[in-house]
Amino acid sequence: MQSFTDTPDSHLTTVNTPPVVVTSELRKVYRTGFWMNQKVVSLKSCSLEVYQGETFGLLGPNGAGKTTLLKLLLGIIRPTSGKGLLLGKPLGDRLTKQHLGYLPENPYLYEYLTGWEFLELAAGLFQIPASIQRQRIPQLLDLVGLSVADARKKQMRRYSKGMLQRVGMAQALINDPQLIFLDEPMSGLDPLGRYRMREIILSLKAAGKTIFFNSHILSEVEQICDRIAILTQGELICTGSLAELLGSENTYYVKGQGGDWEILKKWLPNLVFEADGSWQGTLQADYYDFLASLRLMGGQIISINLSRYSLEEFFIQQIQKQNISVNE
Ligand SMILES: Nc1ncnc2c1ncn2[C@@H]1O[C@H](COP(=O)(O)OP(=O)(O)O)[C@@H](O)[C@H]1O
Ligand SMILES: [Mg+2]
Repeated sequence: MQSFTDTPDSHLTTVNTPPVVVTSELRKVYRTGFWMNQKVVSLKSCSLEVYQGETFGLLGPNGAGKTTLLKLLLGIIRPTSGKGLLLGKPLGDRLTKQHLGYLPENPYLYEYLTGWEFLELAAGLFQIPASIQRQRIPQLLDLVGLSVADARKKQMRRYSKGMLQRVGMAQALINDPQLIFLDEPMSGLDPLGRYRMREIILSLKAAGKTIFFNSHILSEVEQICDRIAILTQGELICTGSLAELLGSENTYYVKGQGGDWEILKKWLPNLVFEADGSWQGTLQADYYDFLASLRLMGGQIISINLSRYSLEEFFIQQIQKQNISVNE
């Protein structure tokens, strides 16, 4: 079994490798109410793919269906219709579970166990031999930044939220999984806790793991993910790499004055004229070619800045397009 410190060179994201997660029109309708006669459509028709070594972020407001999708992928609940494959096997396949790690949204950890005892319990469920447990538990504690003393001596009821999340993460990794699902791993953590969680996720990514996580903390997602999907009201409204969705790093926001309106419009499709005679717009073409053209038409630059949507701006724009209110 591969150790956590190994860094295989095969971890780079490539769409040439077969996807490790595939869903096809996955739908989940919960039945609720005393007579089970009310329906809640939690997921409408979800089709997505995640590739080996990718860090994939599923974003969406509260109640969007993120946890539902994760539970469907893990085989905890069954879809109403649609299909999916994890590591090439149908959802819910028992043998595949050996290769999966899962950090639930609000992990329930046994209050009266120490972190170490809890990890031994989790390892026992995977039938990991005691000799391997003795090596792996300290290795995982080191990875998640929990001291052996705290893990050995303190019962988990005395852990902070950050420590609980770290022990939960160690539990998710106890079987050295190939594919890791994290449900809101940053929520409830303070900035330092979030920073640490981000570092853990990045070290897993460097070790070649595929990570699928739900989040509504967009700044964190932007720093970690290769690709994202946005889910609202059970529907995937977009999927893509950050560069595809937010625009490339080579987009410039230009302000200037003078020049030929018709020619400027070709360079800056969203050109706007201001009352003072200046203009502004977004340039997606070569910067030097534009400056040369502007000089020829006798125009001048007032300012030019690199411009790329932040994920937060993009997210709000997508949600507003759907006329969906964001519940906090
Ligand atoms: N077990 C359940 N029974 C009935 N409705 C549920 C159940 N679990 C989730 N839901 C509903 O499904 C929708 C999506 O929930 P969830 O997947 O938890 O969203 P998210 O994780 O994005 O906040 C919500 O409207 C929620 O109330
Ligand atoms: Mg959730």
